[in-house]
Amino acid sequence: TGDVTLDVGFVNTASCKSEITYIDGGEGILRYRGYPIEQLAAKSSFLETSYLLIYGELPTATQLEEFDQRIRRHTLLLEDMKGFFNGFPRDAHPMPVLSSAVSALGTFYQDSLDPFDPEAVEISTIRLMAKLPTIAAYAFRKSQGQPFLYPNNDYNLVENFLWMTFGQPTEDYQLDPVVAKALDLLFILHADHEQNCSTSTVRLVGSSEANLFSSISAGIHALSGPLHGGANSAVLTMLDQIKESGGDVKDFVSKVKNKEEGVKLMGFGHRVYKNYDPRAALVKQTAHEIFSKVGGGNPLLDLAMELEQTALEDDYFVERKLYPNVDFYTGLIYESMGFPSNMFTVLFAIGRLPGWIAQWREMINDPATKIGRPRQLYVGSPARDYVAADAR
Ligand code: CMC
Repeated sequence: TGDVTLDVGFVNTASCKSEITYIDGGEGILRYRGYPIEQLAAKSSFLETSYLLIYGELPTATQLEEFDQRIRRHTLLLEDMKGFFNGFPRDAHPMPVLSSAVSALGTFYQDSLDPFDPEAVEISTIRLMAKLPTIAAYAFRKSQGQPFLYPNNDYNLVENFLWMTFGQPTEDYQLDPVVAKALDLLFILHADHEQNCSTSTVRLVGSSEANLFSSISAGIHALSGPLHGGANSAVLTMLDQIKESGGDVKDFVSKVKNKEEGVKLMGFGHRVYKNYDPRAALVKQTAHEIFSKVGGGNPLLDLAMELEQTALEDDYFVERKLYPNVDFYTGLIYESMGFPSNMFTVLFAIGRLPGWIAQWREMINDPATKIGRPRQLYVGSPARDYVAADAR
């Protein structure tokens, strides 16, 4: 094994070449297909950004319209899928429900699973983009004991998701355009982030030539952990705990620095960013906008800002180049939109979906792709002889 290099956590190992997303962690730069995230956040839509990531170029007006229409036509789940949600306990966390449902889609569309058939990949792409918000909304409705609402295809992707999540069949639904716009923006900011844990999972599973649904389902599980997408709800739990124990931010920061019980400042730090995460800056701005427009201020936002300021001035964080990441402020926004905290990571998954699909498609079309198969350094026992049970 002399030619094997140990790189725990793949800190310094590139697993592929990619044309999709560029990050300069030192400078805090993020670009999708060359376009700066700030420009996409200001001018694009989630649908358009998804097209850009998946197909490589910004769409013409006609291409965008076609993409939109195709997605609107596929938002319904097959009726048989509805029974699927009832198989879970009422308090099931929506992330495993989401992942299981995506995996199950592969059983409903068995004629379009071939990863090397471009038409099959294309229809699977549209089905996933269209159905993930429906699945997410149904997982939420199930947890609330509320009826499932059919998609209303007068709405766009994000509006439809809000309708299926919060609408009531018996009342007129007033879609809040401020909320829809803010959610659209947050989805843009989450849409891709090169070879992070969940995306690498999608590629690794896909490298065995497993189908797109199976690969994305695995990615959703990878995203669920608190060190990855699960951080957005962990931040809110942390803020609640600080508030309940008297709101002493300095006391909490010293616990983090002393690594008491492994406590971390959730929503801070990043493997690649050693500078302010450009997404966090945009999210922070959105948090202020949404709180000033929807239902006034939020005391936890003030607490979060105080916590951020305290950490940014503290040597522990300065020396380690720890800055707020995308998850630091998102939970506060999602909460103000009415989502319970177990839905936050589901929202991340909806946003990240086009990135996962784009990366999977790039992987499957790259002639250099091989099955992912990391090596190891064996440090276990040398060869020894089996001992019968009565002689041990
Ligand atoms: N709070 C306190 N200390 C930290 C933190 C933190 N959030 N993050 C890193 N450190 C310390 C870490 O203890 C280590 O210190 P020392 O050198 O004394 O051992 C040093 O900084 C380097 O950290 P690391 O663990 O080697 O860094 P990593 O690249 O392996 O981990 C991370 C990156 C994001 C997992 C980590 O920063 C973390 O756990 N952050 C909190 C969870 C979080 O916010 N995750 C969301 C990430 S962004 C969105 C996403 O990916 O979903």
